[in-house]
Amino acid sequence: MIGAMRHGSLVAALVGVFLIGAAASADESAPAIEHAAPEDKSAHGGRGRHFHDPKQWTKSWDAPSRKKWQRPDEVVALLDVAPGENVADLGTGTGYFLSYLAKRVGAKGRVIALDVEQAMVDHVEKRVKRDNLANVEVRKVPFNSPDLRDGEVDRILIVNTWHHVQKRSAYAALLHKALDSCDRPGAVLIVEYTRESPRGPSQKIRLDPETVMKELRSGGFQAVLLTEKLPYQYAVKGERRDRPATCPPKL
Ligand SMILES: C[S@@+](CC[C@H](N)C(=O)[O-])C[C@H]1O[C@@H](n2cnc3c(N)ncnc32)[C@H](O)[C@@H]1O
Repeated sequence: MIGAMRHGSLVAALVGVFLIGAAASADESAPAIEHAAPEDKSAHGGRGRHFHDPKQWTKSWDAPSRKKWQRPDEVVALLDVAPGENVADLGTGTGYFLSYLAKRVGAKGRVIALDVEQAMVDHVEKRVKRDNLANVEVRKVPFNSPDLRDGEVDRILIVNTWHHVQKRSAYAALLHKALDSCDRPGAVLIVEYTRESPRGPSQKIRLDPETVMKELRSGGFQAVLLTEKLPYQYAVKGERRDRPATCPPKL
């Protein structure tokens, strides 16, 4: 009897702890570990996470409160997109940045949303239709390549995704080739969580800005750490400074 009561209290206590935990993680304004996805060593090029379930992720990635700290307009401003340009959103996830990018490039520009997860791609295709984003195209890509044509885009945005990419220097070289630099230097913007941030993936997979800059430089970029007002993240910009021989002659 006493054993049964003890068991009952233990269950009640565990349920209580679970409910408190669920409430805390549903509160986006509270510090949170964002990448509490199931661990799988083979997933995401060995980064140990997979993102099969957009319904689950949209709760935190698309939470209205994200706007306060993510400052999407500022991120898009740091990317320095001009109307009419072509922009890729690498690791688009649930498509959080797409409406901001689509608005910025306008009807004459194009946004290409890229992700390795079929479930995310399906989710984003529905989102694009629902939100009537006529200038957005969604593509599933392999882990080791953005699969963009040479010079296909002017700008590439990569938010909270670079740490999932393996062999990043080689990958940076592919991004470099994908950028058009005929009229002005093509650019990539990488936004990652700082080491100090109470949000973000586990410390063991966080990247320092110096590492990101080094990886971009070995892919051929000129890289700088930008000044910004993001409370939890930093932003590194890489520019393609060469002008390939395939560019039309300058008048
Ligand atoms: C943490 S989410 C970030 C989503 C979005 N950028 C945002 O800020 O809301 C990372 C996304 O990158 C995708 N991803 C991981 N590795 C990738 C790769 N090598 N190429 C393209 N997408 C990748 C994942 O499937 C996931 O949807």
